[in-house]
Amino acid sequence: MRKTLIAGNWKMNFTVTEAESFFKSFKIQKKEGVELLFCPPFTDIPITRFFLERSSILWGAQNVYPEDNGAFTGEISAPMLKDLGCSYVICGHSERRQILGESDELVARKVKAVLSHDMIPILCVGETGEERKEGQTEERIGSEIRTALFELSKEEAAKVVIAYEPIWAIGSGKAATPEGAEEIAVFIRKTVKETAGKKASEEVRILYGGSVNGDNMSHFLKQKDIDGALIGGASLKPETMIDIYSKA
Ligand code: 13P
Repeated sequence: MRKTLIAGNWKMNFTVTEAESFFKSFKIQKKEGVELLFCPPFTDIPITRFFLERSSILWGAQNVYPEDNGAFTGEISAPMLKDLGCSYVICGHSERRQILGESDELVARKVKAVLSHDMIPILCVGETGEERKEGQTEERIGSEIRTALFELSKEEAAKVVIAYEPIWAIGSGKAATPEGAEEIAVFIRKTVKETAGKKASEEVRILYGGSVNGDNMSHFLKQKDIDGALIGGASLKPETMIDIYSKA
C-alpha cells in the first residue's frame, strides 16, 4: 500500500518570524496513512523543526547540492539537511530547471545524493504549455525520469517520489484535470517499470502539483495512480493546509 503524501512547497516565502506565526496557528488531527510534509526555505528549517519535532508532521528542503562538503559557495549539502532532521528533499523543481538552468544530469546527481543520506527525493517532472501543444509531454517527462533513475538500484528507485507538475499549471490557477493528471501518472509508472522494473513501478509514489487547492485536491487523490499532492501557493495559508490535510 502506497502512503499518501501531502507536501507543501513554500518556495521563497516566509521569513523566520512569518514561519513562526504560520506554525502557531497550524493545528491538525493526525490521520493514519497520510504523511504531511513542509518544505520551507533553508533559513526556516530550524524553526520548522522546533514546531514540528514533537508532532507527526515531517519537514524537508526544496533543493540540495550533490556533494557532501567543499568549495561550493552558497550551496547546502545532503548531510547538512539530514542533520536538521529533513526527511524529504525536492529535486529538479521546474523553477530551478528554468530559472537556474538545472540539467537532467544535475538533478539525477541530487536524487542520488539525497538517497545516499537516507532521505527521500521528490523528483519534479513536467512539460511547458508549448511542449504540451506540440505533443511532447511524454518525451520530456520520460527523459527527465530515465535520467534521474539511471544510476539508481531498483530498491533506490522504488523509494523516489515523482511529482508531476505541468509547468503551465503552476501558480496559474489552471490545474490539470484529474483525468489528465492520471493519464500522465500511468505513463510515469510505465516509464519507471521500463527503467527500474515492475516492483519499483508499483511502489513509487506519484504526486500531482500545479494549482492544487482545498476544492480540487480530493479529485486528484481519487485517481488510482496519484498518491498525493505537491502544493505551492495554497500551502502558505494554515487554514487551507488544514482543510487539504483533513480531506486527504
Ligand atoms: P502552486 O500550487 O502555487 O501552483 O505551485 C505548485 C508547485 O510548484 C509546487 O511545487
